[in-house]
Amino acid sequence: MSAVRSVTVPGDKSLSHRALMFAALASGESVVRGVLPSADVISTAGVLRALGVSLPDRWSGEDTLRITGRGRRGLQQPSRDLDCGNSGTTTRLMAGVIAGHDMRATFVGDASLSRRPMRRIARPLTQMGAIFTFTSDDGLPMTVHGGALGDIDWISPTASAQVKSAILLAALVSGNSARVQEPTRSRDHTERMLAALGAPIVVTDEAVVLGPVTALAPLDFDVPGDPSSAVFLIALAVLRGIPIEITKVGVNATRIGAFAVLTRMGVSLTLVNAHDVGGEPVADVHVAATAGIRGVDIGGDEIPALIDELPILACLAARADGETRIRDAGELRVKESDRIAVVVSNLRAIGADADELPDGMVIRGGAGRFAGHVRSHGDHRIAMSFGVLGAGGNADITVDDPDCVNVSFPGFWETLALIGAAT
Ligand code: S3P
Repeated sequence: MSAVRSVTVPGDKSLSHRALMFAALASGESVVRGVLPSADVISTAGVLRALGVSLPDRWSGEDTLRITGRGRRGLQQPSRDLDCGNSGTTTRLMAGVIAGHDMRATFVGDASLSRRPMRRIARPLTQMGAIFTFTSDDGLPMTVHGGALGDIDWISPTASAQVKSAILLAALVSGNSARVQEPTRSRDHTERMLAALGAPIVVTDEAVVLGPVTALAPLDFDVPGDPSSAVFLIALAVLRGIPIEITKVGVNATRIGAFAVLTRMGVSLTLVNAHDVGGEPVADVHVAATAGIRGVDIGGDEIPALIDELPILACLAARADGETRIRDAGELRVKESDRIAVVVSNLRAIGADADELPDGMVIRGGAGRFAGHVRSHGDHRIAMSFGVLGAGGNADITVDDPDCVNVSFPGFWETLALIGAAT
């Protein structure tokens, strides 16, 4: 029996973006540790710097960042376009922040981000009183003209934390109230951080309601490890049949839907040392050595809590006994790539058996050899998912653009090699 390999994962991406944004809007000095030093979060820092916030352009995951907030409505008119790189969270959340300020800013990004839908945030923010201009039908470049906004009661057609957060941030900055209702609760980090900083926010089964805020207290926050990154390492341990422990992982229920799916597939996974950090649940994740996994159905209300994990769950399903059906996941088509088309075409390229569905996919698992070249389309989660499948055994898979993993998981390939060496 091999010894349990204990590893950590870099800081949570969603929380790192929010920590920087809330620190920028707070009154006073915030102290944030463990901020993910990945390309997406570096994009948020760059956008905040363009708006007058003093932030480093590079940092390490061990650094403590001390950030002087400019106050609830104190950002400066930028003199350049806001370059969001590959980051949808930077674009959509910061569009809400700009909408609440009396300023005008143009958002730009890379080719993948420029294709992603932005009208989903423009619609509610326009209803609040902001003015949006698009040069194409949807997507970037997008100019936001903010100002005096009004209250909003928004029923969102999609479960999207980025849409919900854009609205809450616009209301926070402009001193308005907002009510947001979603078909299923999306990740609730913005709500938790607002509550931790003293904002009048009420969350019910039906909706999130934020009352007018005058000032935001500064944060003192340790960013936990990213559960989305942890799932890649869990998947590799499962494929290699080795036990693993991942310490200090964020285990917010709106983020760990994949843990329940892994359990249904036959993985024995336990959370130990559970505690709370700044309003976010954190624990160590223990995974026992797994002998084999089975295919499962994934769909319905569980999708928002595992949307980013579907590519790696699909790759794992290619090694499961039986069929896996993923449904109700049409949102995958508007992520960093069309993750339904890209996962299925890459699974087929390496010899796995998979078909697209309009809102998901079907994967028929097998133990045969997988070999071939994977096109990541610059999508970090595609590169990592197939990287794991390649390292999982009986496979010879090459992945183009391996550096794109830096969008969310710097050091991914090194950590993968470390776990692989444990066998
Ligand atoms: C995120 C929300 C999700 C997720 C993305 C990060 C966030 O997107 O897929 O990786 O930090 O709010 P949607 O809000 O579009 O579902």
